[in-house]
Amino acid sequence: DATLLEEVKNRLRDVPDFPKPGILFKDITPVLADPHLFHRVVDAMAAPFRGQRIDRVVAVESRGFLFGAPIALTLHAGFAPARKPGKLPWRTRTERYALEYGEDGLQLHEDAVGRGNRVLIVDDLLATGGTAQATQRLVTALGAEVVGYSFLISLDFLPGRERLGRDKVCSLLSY
Ligand code: PRP
Ligand code: MG
Repeated sequence: DATLLEEVKNRLRDVPDFPKPGILFKDITPVLADPHLFHRVVDAMAAPFRGQRIDRVVAVESRGFLFGAPIALTLHAGFAPARKPGKLPWRTRTERYALEYGEDGLQLHEDAVGRGNRVLIVDDLLATGGTAQATQRLVTALGAEVVGYSFLISLDFLPGRERLGRDKVCSLLSY
């Protein structure tokens, strides 16, 4: 609802020139610090996927974990972390993706999702979509299906939403 969106907008802290000059960083920690607001944000991010039989929530290291784990609980789904290379102990799948300069990678355990599982991908922020798209490739490579994506914030002046498929992307706030 509109009040929730306003409250979240007012609580996000804009930090100029972090982590680099020219970037206006949206600090989510004031939202996490307010238990009532945090709870409502988690419920609102889960809401579009209630009743859609989600088997697994896959969230992206590191800020995605903060929302992915509680969303998995509210949807009665399992949780699986997508992590930066070298962090997961078991057998993994790896996907590389392009950054503004250079490239990075993400890994999932081979048994993180099962064949035919219905998966929701969660992260705090959708920017270029590279991170979420690499996560989607990991999930589909393991034989599961990406039902949708839930973000707290999407930056709609960037192509993320188009890259992932407009109809699959939900975000609480857009800039
Ligand atoms: C940020 C953000 C998303 C990603 C979005 O993570 O949390 O995961 O970038 O960017 P994209 O849509 O252009 O791929 P970051 O890599 O800063 O790491 P963190 O979550 O560990 O802080
Ligand atoms: Mg991140």
